[in-house]
Amino acid sequence: MSKIDLSMDALDPAKLKEIDALVESLPDPSGSLIQILHKAQSLFGYLPPELQLYVARKVGVPAARVNGVVSFYSFFIENPEGKYNIAICLGTACFVKGAAEVLEKFRTELNLPKEKSRTDDGLFSIAEVRCIGACALAPVLRIGDKIYGHVKPADVPGIIQHYRDLEEEG
Ligand code: FES
Repeated sequence: MSKIDLSMDALDPAKLKEIDALVESLPDPSGSLIQILHKAQSLFGYLPPELQLYVARKVGVPAARVNGVVSFYSFFIENPEGKYNIAICLGTACFVKGAAEVLEKFRTELNLPKEKSRTDDGLFSIAEVRCIGACALAPVLRIGDKIYGHVKPADVPGIIQHYRDLEEEG
């Protein structure tokens, strides 16, 4: 988390109240951070820095501890996902087979600089993930339930176009 003094204005108060209620119902909130963060993610869809800070203050633990938990578990999402989230494995097997070049090609094709993870139209997002257990197919990426294996940078435009076509078909 780069900034910690963030505005809470963008967070829906009704949803925050649900988090409050959960925290207050727990005998040991600081020992139940994962449960609380799951709830927060199910309410907001992801865990932006200001929401992590809110949880930290509510529970009474340092923001760094909350962020440590969020970063550690891959099921927690820190950035909003697009309709099609492209999860690119950067685990060792994928990395040595060129995953970084595939990632770079997606960034170029989708016009997404490093600090951005979602396209402005909300259609695509990119997530860098750890091993997804398909190393034999390295480099691997996942979009929804579909796994793509042995992906080369040259395949990237076609993959993106496939999802753009799906959108046009409605
Ligand atoms: S390292 Fe990428 S699937 Fe295992």
